[in-house]
Amino acid sequence: MNPALLIVDQLQIDVNALRGAAPKPILRGVSFAMQPGETVGVLGASGSGKTSLALALLGLLPPALTARGRVLFEGHELLAASRGARRALRGRRLSIVFQEPLTALNPRMRVGAQVAEMARAHGERDARRALRSAVDMLGRAGLPDADVRSRRFPHELSGGERQRVLLAMALLLDPALLIADEPTSALDVTVQAQVLQLLHAQQRERGLALLLVSHDLGVIATSCERTIVLHDGLVVEDVPTRQLLSAPEHAQARALVDAVRPAVRSA
Ligand SMILES: Nc1ncnc2c1ncn2[C@@H]1O[C@H](COP(=O)(O)OP(=O)(O)OP(=O)(O)O)[C@@H](O)[C@H]1O
Ligand SMILES: [Mg+2]
Repeated sequence: MNPALLIVDQLQIDVNALRGAAPKPILRGVSFAMQPGETVGVLGASGSGKTSLALALLGLLPPALTARGRVLFEGHELLAASRGARRALRGRRLSIVFQEPLTALNPRMRVGAQVAEMARAHGERDARRALRSAVDMLGRAGLPDADVRSRRFPHELSGGERQRVLLAMALLLDPALLIADEPTSALDVTVQAQVLQLLHAQQRERGLALLLVSHDLGVIATSCERTIVLHDGLVVEDVPTRQLLSAPEHAQARALVDAVRPAVRSA
């Protein structure tokens, strides 16, 4: 078996207490591993800690939250790494698509230039070549008329179009692992399918591993071989998705499965 791409070992996320008793932790000892090229879904109700998990893996938790435990990515311990070391990995080996695209984009910069800047930050010296590869990736990420829209500012795009700008940024540098936090929730079903297809194509062509965070079991059922169910800061299931659909063990997982259409259950 290959060495694991990612090992998360007893990850705990606490809210820093200002005074008095510390509030309940957001994650309480989350452990799982991912192999290169694997697609793993993270499913859980709103507030179960999905976004906090994604942010902690990248060292991007807000100052109010602290992570403990171990996160090993390609053999590097990420929680203990310096900011500089983490930044060097981010974007190049490890990328994220955020749940809220507007906050992740610079409002004063045209989107094509923002995608191109990602390429330049990681070593592409030729500005025109960086912009060309940015527009090309925007087109592949499903942005219609990418050459025209790449000259717009974030607020001049729809929510779904902005989501595709983030996806283009995340994929541009050919990462080994993409963490996608609700990447298709803002998209209509046609575009959603198109984005998922792009992600799968990247997996086939480049061996990209995908950690797909979603509250939508339909999206996870069509995309992920394995699913982790988070409930109340704990992993309550870590099973092949088929098994989750046919025989969920934990009550919370059963509730999530029961809440969706019968069509998905038989997928
Ligand atoms: N900065 C913070 N300070 C205090 N509590 C926080 C902070 N960020 C998140 N939380 C709490 O941590 C819990 C998990 O939040 P998180 O955003 O990870 O959930 P989620 O599973 O991504 O939910 P959703 O499906 O709504 O996106 C929530 O109860 C939230 O209120
Ligand atoms: Mg979230």
